Amino acid sequence: MNVSYRNDPARLAGLVQPGRIHRDAYINPEIFDLEMERLWSRSWLFVGPADIVPNPGDYWRTTLAGQSVFMMRQTDGKVAVFMNRCAHKGAEVVLDTQGNVGKLIRCPYHAWNYRLDGSLLSLPLKNDYEGSGVWESPAGQGLAQPGAVREYRGLVFARLSPEGDDFETYFGEVLAILDLVADRSPEGRLELTGRPLRSEIRCNWKMYLENVNDSVHPISAHESAANSAKVVAGRMAEGAEKELAMEQLLPFGAGYTFYTKMGAKLLANGHSIHGTHFSIHSGYAAIEGYEDMLIAAHGEARAREVLSFSPQNTILYPSMAIKANPSVVRVLRPVAVDRMVLEAWALAPVGAPDILRKQAVNYSRLVFSPLSVVAHDDLRLFESAQEGLHTQGNDWISLHRGLSGDADPELPHEIEDGNDEIMMRNQYRAWAQGMAPAGEKA
Ligand code: FES
Ligand SMILES: [Fe+2]
Repeated sequence: MNVSYRNDPARLAGLVQPGRIHRDAYINPEIFDLEMERLWSRSWLFVGPADIVPNPGDYWRTTLAGQSVFMMRQTDGKVAVFMNRCAHKGAEVVLDTQGNVGKLIRCPYHAWNYRLDGSLLSLPLKNDYEGSGVWESPAGQGLAQPGAVREYRGLVFARLSPEGDDFETYFGEVLAILDLVADRSPEGRLELTGRPLRSEIRCNWKMYLENVNDSVHPISAHESAANSAKVVAGRMAEGAEKELAMEQLLPFGAGYTFYTKMGAKLLANGHSIHGTHFSIHSGYAAIEGYEDMLIAAHGEARAREVLSFSPQNTILYPSMAIKANPSVVRVLRPVAVDRMVLEAWALAPVGAPDILRKQAVNYSRLVFSPLSVVAHDDLRLFESAQEGLHTQGNDWISLHRGLSGDADPELPHEIEDGNDEIMMRNQYRAWAQGMAPAGEKA
């Protein structure tokens, strides 16, 4: 029997229950379509760093909620985002990931030409269109644009749907983490170190995002990486300066107790800050001259705030996870119910000591590259869980850890125990709200 979730809101809502999630949330293609159409289209999603398109006509092509889009620098210096679909017959107007279109965007199929602002400039055999109604139709309006676009601290976000929260309301308090990352630069801005590392993973996007809030898995899943780091560190002469890779990998061996005390903050709309007390990034060696540099730029109070706060991970639900120190941004691009692309962007605080750039690039390669000594542990397990969920015998995944009393606390909500699965339950709270049919939002 094929019962549609689309036509049965109660059945859809029943996928999320206290402490457990029905496996259909991960393996049912109809759920994936509804996620893209409802939750992702109405959420603010990360498009890319604005400086990947420095000059007019530069573009960066990506996907939002599974749809092809591109952002492009305009002649007035602003960045615009377009749906990558020709107004004529739907061909993608830019085909490469990155490039420059020159003075106009020419569709490669039949040469309809658009201005950089997306409006239709010209088309071949124009006279043949006289009286056809094309200029009054959607085709004559040029390239479509997302419902809303916003650049914040050099990062471009968009919401596909014209309906939904404005940028500040949607992200709320979590924007302070973007400020924190940017203020690690004395100039208050980040720059690219290059294009992102991209890996295609055969798992549902939620499996990846839950893992970002999962501090229990490193002890088992990343045991080999942590142990190898310990062996290498043991061979090094006592007092010798720690290699960057060692400094970044050794904390993976921290035990359960470490994470139990790490703390977290849950925010509305699925966002969270993990590691509010400390994290595996808190113990990095101080960098000579950096503190003075930040004090001169931001004042003493702000400089200390920036240097003393290195959360483990911050989630900007549903498309983004950020590390402040090192400054690495992970972005989820869902492709299908069992497939996603992960982008890892290493960003560098402008004007800061060069070691910060190295830390970001190195961390991204060491931990998020599919060729790293860490990422493949996770990817293998995500893909295995995606397979395993098709196995009969239990329709549910468990998110019971730490569940007692009020399952839906008032937000924002601070917790002490960094291992509490309440962070994942908080993601599902936003998921359930976002999946409700329009007009039934809480
Ligand atoms: S599809 Fe673009 S010009 Fe025809
Ligand atoms: Fe991991």
